Amino acid sequence: EKGGYDHFMLKEIYEQPSVIKDTYRGRLHANEGIIQMAGVEDNLEKFLNADRILIVACGTSWHAGLVAEYVIEEFARIPVEVEYASEFRYRNPIITPKDVVIAISQSGETADTLAAIKLAKEKGAFVFGVCNVVGSSISRETHAGAYTHAGPEIGVASTKAFTTQITVLTMIALRLAKAKGTLSNSDFFRYLQELEIIPEKVQEALATNEVSKEIAAKFKDSSNCLYLGRGYNFPVALEGALKLKEISYIHAEGYPAAEMKHGPIALIDEQMPVIVIAPKQGHYDKVVSNIQEIKSRSGKIIAVVTKGDTQVKELADHVIEIPETSDALSPLITTIPLQLLSYHIAVMRDCNVDQPRNLAKSVTVE
Ligand code: M6R
Repeated sequence: EKGGYDHFMLKEIYEQPSVIKDTYRGRLHANEGIIQMAGVEDNLEKFLNADRILIVACGTSWHAGLVAEYVIEEFARIPVEVEYASEFRYRNPIITPKDVVIAISQSGETADTLAAIKLAKEKGAFVFGVCNVVGSSISRETHAGAYTHAGPEIGVASTKAFTTQITVLTMIALRLAKAKGTLSNSDFFRYLQELEIIPEKVQEALATNEVSKEIAAKFKDSSNCLYLGRGYNFPVALEGALKLKEISYIHAEGYPAAEMKHGPIALIDEQMPVIVIAPKQGHYDKVVSNIQEIKSRSGKIIAVVTKGDTQVKELADHVIEIPETSDALSPLITTIPLQLLSYHIAVMRDCNVDQPRNLAKSVTVE
């Protein structure tokens, strides 16, 4: 059942090229310049007339929501807010029938997310679900939705659910952008083409497995770890840190790289591995100067860079090279080596990778 892999988590990491394809199959027609998702088409007016989009979720799904905030605002120019479902439901939030709420959940059973949906519905909002489990409570409770088609995710640490959620949310952003005319035709086509070949790039990123393993061996005994990224890769830093802490029990934090000097930089010494997501697209020069700040304080730098990078390579202690992608689609690629790194560290620490202590696959109680 693990298909020859040692753990479900590893199997699910490796399934990503094919499940991302399953997720866009029949929805993305790159050559015709069409994106079509029934749940969105049937409710297009609701999305287009929305004052704002509010995203509610927990854990990794909340991180996918943060990526969606960047991509929907950039492509479709609709204001987006992202909230932890558990906070949203208890703070008497301002919601009106002019809001569209997107609830993201792999399991479709998360208690706080379900409660947030019920609250949003009571206030008259249109609620759209992005779920993986077909027929789950959240998929039934929402007005409409889009499934991620990642297949069953058994490992408690979410991997393929995250990348397929981002795939769905990016397609929604592109569809809305097309309807609103907020992306040029050429950009729209370019993103469609690129999304179509993302599975191949994910496949290439999986080839970093050996390098990730070597780096894991060097840092497996660390007691802390910092993850830094900017823009689209800030949520990826959060997700990288969550993955490490939940399966290896190493304390890890994710930060927007520029926030470092507002506090976390005090933590940096020669014992502190800092994982920096530094692809060529995005705020490369800014990230390079953040890396210099870490280096001058003797932090150990592990950088995720675009193939062919030279500048960061000179500064970092270790680099993981990934294929080039546009900024907006980069989370689908930069996430992969971070999943592998956490996986190998957890295995080397003899942790129960698929069923980490104290955690349940779906959190059906608040
Ligand atoms: O099933 P959901 O997506 O609603 O679950 C939300 C979180 O419980 C989940 O993402 C959790 O954070 C994972 N263990 C992360 O790997």
